[in-house]
Amino acid sequence: MRTRSAVLWNTGDKWSVEELEASDPAAGEVTVRIRATGLCHSDDHNVTGDFSAPLPVVGGHEGAGEVVAVGAGVDRFSVGDRVITFPMPSCGRCRFCSKGRSWLCDLSARTMSATGANDRFRFHKGDTGIGAFTQLGTFSEYTTVSEAQVFALPDDIPYTAAALVGCGFSTGYGAAVRAGRVEPGDNVVVVGVGGVGMAAVQGARIAGAASVLAVDPVQFKLDEAVRFGATHTARSIEEAEPILRELSWGVMSEVVIVAVGIMHGDLLGPIADLVGKGGKMVMTSVTPLSETTVSLMLSPFAMSGKSLVGNLAGFTNPVADFDEMWRLHRRGHVRLEEMITKTYTLDEINQGYGDMHAGNNVRGVVVFD
Ligand SMILES: NC(=O)c1ccc[n+]([C@@H]2O[C@H](COP(=O)([O-])OP(=O)(O)OC[C@H]3O[C@@H](n4cnc5c(N)ncnc54)[C@H](O)[C@@H]3O)[C@@H](O)[C@H]2O)c1
Ligand SMILES: [Zn+2]
Ligand SMILES: [Zn+2]
Repeated sequence: MRTRSAVLWNTGDKWSVEELEASDPAAGEVTVRIRATGLCHSDDHNVTGDFSAPLPVVGGHEGAGEVVAVGAGVDRFSVGDRVITFPMPSCGRCRFCSKGRSWLCDLSARTMSATGANDRFRFHKGDTGIGAFTQLGTFSEYTTVSEAQVFALPDDIPYTAAALVGCGFSTGYGAAVRAGRVEPGDNVVVVGVGGVGMAAVQGARIAGAASVLAVDPVQFKLDEAVRFGATHTARSIEEAEPILRELSWGVMSEVVIVAVGIMHGDLLGPIADLVGKGGKMVMTSVTPLSETTVSLMLSPFAMSGKSLVGNLAGFTNPVADFDEMWRLHRRGHVRLEEMITKTYTLDEINQGYGDMHAGNNVRGVVVFD
């Protein structure tokens, strides 16, 4: 099937919008006509080289659209179904899925590979095979994906809002509600309030946090964070420390969520100082693969019973947890539309990422006709 898609050919390039051929659906796959896709920072890590998806790759993983073709044996979806994509597959059969931890599904072993489970490239340009980031490639009019990576989208949720749930919203909301297990009365800190962090602010509010301290160098993000439920703001980790000390009566934070655009090892120690006795740091951000050291005084960390939790996709079990988010959205608790600062056409995708780097967007979204 002919499609226009945004491809990254080499590290450091811009996204190149070109005509490609999307694969027809093999057994267990569906072809989705993408209607909206969010500009998550994770795609950009391939541009900067902080991630290592094999290139060339069609970017995009935070998508929503309509099923237009189904392969043999697909029984979860039919042509015409509205769906969202999700980077983590959910087979429902492996050890992790069957224990209710489907974000760790065994099928995700292929997530960062050039080809899907059937060894096929998802896109071609002439004879050249082109991969799909996280086997999704939603920066594309059409993409063919495993049925284990798409999930039903109710009719009343617009595609633009739904796309955010396909990665950033679920990851941030889940950082607070699931990975961090925020409890009523907690003092929560969110370091970095872009798309993911703003969802973490919402998750903390919904979970009943007494205070939510948003930390970001960009004033616009802090102003937005207050709209989404932050009770306090700070421009840096250093500025946050005395504010948190005062508001928590010296106890510091039960849950600190890290959602900065790029994490560096030297930030770990100062962030760990915001965590109180028995508290958790929820590490959501990506650190460049070239960085292998962190700066942290381990003894006080251990002797205060603190923990560091790696957060993958907000510990989301898509089948059950997306339904939770749609219900909360219908009642106005989960705010999705408000997180979309600006929409773009596919041809404007590099402008969208420019705006992300400039700090202009909570989330930019590419909308297809
Ligand atoms: N773990 C997962 O499953 C998962 C899923 C999605 C995204 N991510 C990662 O989460 C991170 C955030 O993604 P995003 O899409 O929200 O990015 P974003 O660029 O929209 O937001 C990042 C925010 O961090 C702020 N920031 C940068 N340096 C900071 C610092 N030192 N202190 C405080 N704030 C700082 C920026 O101003 C910005 O507002 C990225 O690293 C992304 O790759 C991880
Ligand atoms: Zn599984
Ligand atoms: Zn993402």
